[in-house]
Amino acid sequence: MKRVGVLTGGGDSPGLNSVIRAVTRRALAAGYEVIGLKNGWKGLVDGLTVSLDLASVSGILPKGGTILGTSRTNLYAVPADHDRAVATYKQLQLEGLIVIGGEDTLGVANKLSQEGLHIVAVPKTIDNDLANTDFTFGFDTAVNIATEAIDRLLTTAESHHRIMVVEVMGRHAGWIATYAGIAGGADVILIPEKPIDVHEVCDILRKRHARGKEFSIVVVAEGAALDHQSEVAKAEKLDAFGHIRLGGIGDTLGKLIEEQTGIETRVTVLGHIQRGGSPTAFDRVLGTRFGVAAMELVLSRDFGKMVSLQGNKIVAIPIASAVAQLKTVDPELYEIAKIFFG
Ligand code: F6P
Repeated sequence: MKRVGVLTGGGDSPGLNSVIRAVTRRALAAGYEVIGLKNGWKGLVDGLTVSLDLASVSGILPKGGTILGTSRTNLYAVPADHDRAVATYKQLQLEGLIVIGGEDTLGVANKLSQEGLHIVAVPKTIDNDLANTDFTFGFDTAVNIATEAIDRLLTTAESHHRIMVVEVMGRHAGWIATYAGIAGGADVILIPEKPIDVHEVCDILRKRHARGKEFSIVVVAEGAALDHQSEVAKAEKLDAFGHIRLGGIGDTLGKLIEEQTGIETRVTVLGHIQRGGSPTAFDRVLGTRFGVAAMELVLSRDFGKMVSLQGNKIVAIPIASAVAQLKTVDPELYEIAKIFFG
C-alpha cells in the first residue's frame, strides 16, 4: 500500500486540524496509508509516528491546535538531526510528505525538497506573512479574536476616558494589527513595517481628545519598534531558527503615551489567545481546500510545490518562491487604515 506522511511545524494556527483531516480523507479515498509525524520535524528525527485513519480525524474540524503536535525543530541547526530525519523518511517508504508550516518549517521543507525528498507544502501562519499566497489559514481566526478584544476594550475605555493600547501578534508583518485595527475602528495602528514615531502618535491622540473624544484605541503589532530602536524582546534566548521571543512594545508605548499626553493609558497584550481555540469557518474551509489540493499534488507526483490561495483559486507554486521573501502589509491597505486615525 502506498504511504503519505503529514506533519505540522512551527507555531500552531487555527485550522491545522482541518488540513490534517482533509489530507487523510483524500488519501484514504485514494487507497493510501496515512502516517502522521508527531511534533513537527522532531517526529521525523525521532521516528515518532501515528497512523491516521477515519476514526483519528473524526470530530477534529472545530478543534484548535494540532492533533499531531508541533515544535520549532530546525533540521539544519544540528547535522545529525537532518541525517536522522532523512533516514526516517526513507525507512517509512513515503510516496510523499505533506509539510504544514510557516516560513521556518517551509524553509526546511524547501531544502529537503532540493535534496530530492518528495515534499508538498501547505502554508500556515496567523501572521499571514508568507509570500505568494493571498491568505494563510489561522489569520482570519486571529483577526476575529483581536477585533472582538478591541470591541470589548472600547466600551471600558469609553467609560473610564482612557487610552487603551492593544498589543497583537505579528513578528515581521502587521497584518493582524492592520486588519483588526480597521475592523475595530482603531485610532492608531502601528506595525513592524513602519518605525514608531511616538511624537506623531501622541499628536494624533491629543488632537482626537481636543475634539471631544475622551477615549482612544491604539493597536500595536509585537514586532513594531520605536524609531531608531530594535524590537522589544520578552526573552533574549533564541529559538532554533534564531528568533528572539517578542513582547513588550505595548508596555513601552503605553508608558510613553501616558507621559507625553497626560491621559491615563492601559495596556492589554493578547498573546497566544489569538492562536488558541476554534477556527473560523473561513479558516476551516481554506484548510480543507489546502489539504485536498496538497494530496492531489502527491497523487500527481508534483513535488516541491506549495498549495496557495490566489484570488479564490487554489494553485500550486514552487515552495522556493514562498520562502524567498516575506509578505509585508500592502501599503495601500495601510493608507486606508490611516484615513481613520485620530
Ligand atoms: O509566527 C507566528 C507567531 O504567532 C508570531 O506572531 C509570534 O511572534 C510567534 O508565533 C510566537 O510563538 P511562540 O510563543 O509559540 O514561540
